[in-house]
Amino acid sequence: MKYDFDKETIRRGTQCVKWDEAADPEVLPMWVADMDFEVAPCIAEVLQKRVAHGIFGYALVPESYYEAVIGWFSRRHGWNIQRDWILYTSGVVPAMSCAIKALCMPGEKVLIQTPVYNCFFSSIHNNGCQVVENELRRTGDTYEIDFEDFERKCADEKTTLFLLCNPHNPAGRVWSKAELQHMNDICMRHGVRVVSDEIHCELVMPGCVYTPFAAAADDCQRNSITLSSPSKSFNTAGLQIANIVCQDAEVRRRIDRAININEVCDVNPFGPIALEAAYNEGEEWLDELNQYLYQNYLALKEFFANRLPQLQVMRLEGTYLVWVDIRSLGLSSDGLTEKLLNEGKVFVNSGTMYGRKAGEGYIRINIACPRSRMLEGLERIATVIGKLNKK
Ligand SMILES: Cc1ncc(COP(=O)(O)O)c(C=O)c1O
Repeated sequence: MKYDFDKETIRRGTQCVKWDEAADPEVLPMWVADMDFEVAPCIAEVLQKRVAHGIFGYALVPESYYEAVIGWFSRRHGWNIQRDWILYTSGVVPAMSCAIKALCMPGEKVLIQTPVYNCFFSSIHNNGCQVVENELRRTGDTYEIDFEDFERKCADEKTTLFLLCNPHNPAGRVWSKAELQHMNDICMRHGVRVVSDEIHCELVMPGCVYTPFAAAADDCQRNSITLSSPSKSFNTAGLQIANIVCQDAEVRRRIDRAININEVCDVNPFGPIALEAAYNEGEEWLDELNQYLYQNYLALKEFFANRLPQLQVMRLEGTYLVWVDIRSLGLSSDGLTEKLLNEGKVFVNSGTMYGRKAGEGYIRINIACPRSRMLEGLERIATVIGKLNKK
């Protein structure tokens, strides 16, 4: 490997949410979706150069920024975006909130597939709308869509928007083209618009293929808004830059208006240049990252098979967030998560964050860290669970 993902950079004490949230310095964090890897050298270089300039006034987003976004999606994913379809803002969650504000009236229903990323719930509620859950159906070590239930919920005239997570956090699914088309057919039939959060789109395991929702079929583009950012895959979440891609000029105008009303139209000077570096020069680094993450996943699977066979690791097609079925322990997700933190000093996410019902019985483990660190975290988990069995 050209890049060193085994390097254990110390993050504690850097005002880092992942490492500095827990007051106890012994805690090993495997929670929030943030990686312990240093960014690709091409990103570090442009940021260092920008810092050396020494002035950090309001930033302008240049044409080269749009070219980088267009070039990346066309080259890497075969999706052709036009320059004027792109709006930028300070994050995918702000983008999601603006899309809901622009497209839904308060009181309307927004469909989501649970268990799902926690901010889906808050974004819908914060905009005065109601959450409607199309619970994913557990089959073996993975999840499928319950299309009958999906259609029933789309048919409700109060349902006006479907918030898709593609790839899906925390279910680990990279939706197939056929699944995306099927969802779109149903949405089109019932006049439901689609907002697709594709922040995890570059984090895909070998053998799995990410399809942008908008590129899954001809009418997907017209009926959807895509939210994306290089922040998860290139580890630049703190630089706060994201894009909204929307072909429909009137919908775009409404979203643009919401971006201004929510005051999230300004970005900092670092986000856009980091995005350009990532999309123009970061491909080789990203490919190696995905290989490393896959090896971590295999190592985790082996660890669970040998040491914690009573727990089921769900199949990971995309993201670096492993979803683990803990139901055999007879403990609640919140109960186990608390025990792991207090007794094992390892910080994972409780499944209930992603849906009180749909996420109960699961925990989410972030494996985007040097392998030795991940294995240390897994040892801590095994120690706590080992003690449970003896009681
Ligand atoms: C599906 C999904 N969307 C959005 C975000 C956060 O996006 P941002 O930090 O750009 O607001 C996350 C972070 O974990 C996520 O998993």
